[in-house]
Amino acid sequence: MRHLLGITHLQRADVEEILAVADSFAEVTRRSIPKVPALRGRTIVLGFFEDSTRTRVSFETAAKRLSADTVSFSSSGTSVSKGESLRDTALTLQAIGADCLVVRHASSGAPWQLARWLERTCVVNAGDGAHEHPTQALLDCWTLTRKLGPLDGMHLVIVGDVAHSRVARSNVAAFTLLGADVTVVAPRTLLAADIESWARAPGSVKTSDDLDRALASADAVYLLRMQLERQHEALVPSLREYTERFGLTRRRLDQLAERVAVLHPGPMNRGVEIAPEAADDPRSLILSQVEAGVNVRMAVLFLTLGGQHAVEGVAGE
Ligand code: CP
Repeated sequence: MRHLLGITHLQRADVEEILAVADSFAEVTRRSIPKVPALRGRTIVLGFFEDSTRTRVSFETAAKRLSADTVSFSSSGTSVSKGESLRDTALTLQAIGADCLVVRHASSGAPWQLARWLERTCVVNAGDGAHEHPTQALLDCWTLTRKLGPLDGMHLVIVGDVAHSRVARSNVAAFTLLGADVTVVAPRTLLAADIESWARAPGSVKTSDDLDRALASADAVYLLRMQLERQHEALVPSLREYTERFGLTRRRLDQLAERVAVLHPGPMNRGVEIAPEAADDPRSLILSQVEAGVNVRMAVLFLTLGGQHAVEGVAGE
């Protein structure tokens, strides 16, 4: 794996390999000194051209636990603010010695473009526009499989602002690749027209506007953030009505079966797509998702940068 650009170009065996490697890094994370020399001498640039808390901090933690050198890079305070192009910026980082560029960018497709320009630097997509967020989907698969077991035949319900969500596209692909049936629940104005093409198995995704009905047979419910900053017109009559129809409200939480897991990629709009009581409920895996992010991102950096050399490094610890 030279780059990780999206879930759409991965096969089931690729995802399973990443999850299995993440298992071994979970063991490293539990050690008193959670560090291995697997990527010693490698330089990872964290290029965050768009805001992030979870993804940026967990990639940086993952890189440090693998003993890589890290450099943080954003638009402000660099020559990007003077108008330097993405290509010139990327070639500059490669010339300085970046072995890997972890990139978050507001522009869909930016990581694919970078991968075409860079010959010696691997590219890991940390979220591009409304397109893909592959490491979020991988950490969600890891969290769910550790909680529920294999996803084959599971019914996973994804709710909310699908139209503006890179998480939804990557997660529909990843969940269906692992055998789950997915129901996407959203107002028609927040659905994507091509959603059936996101599924990796024919007929494994369907859409609905009836959340209560979908939840009745769900094994997990995944709330998406209402992305008000990406909505340039009124797509729902009001947030109050949206919450009433599509939010995991206190009423729905009280009706939810005990076995149903609750997930959200963060950051949450508490009181909009998810009630505070639901976010903090024992069924909520939201902080487990954050924890999983470090192990899964260690696995992704290890597999893109390390290969067999790195396997020896881990085994030697
Ligand atoms: N889930 C997610 O990508 O969160 P951040 O934007 O904080 O990285």
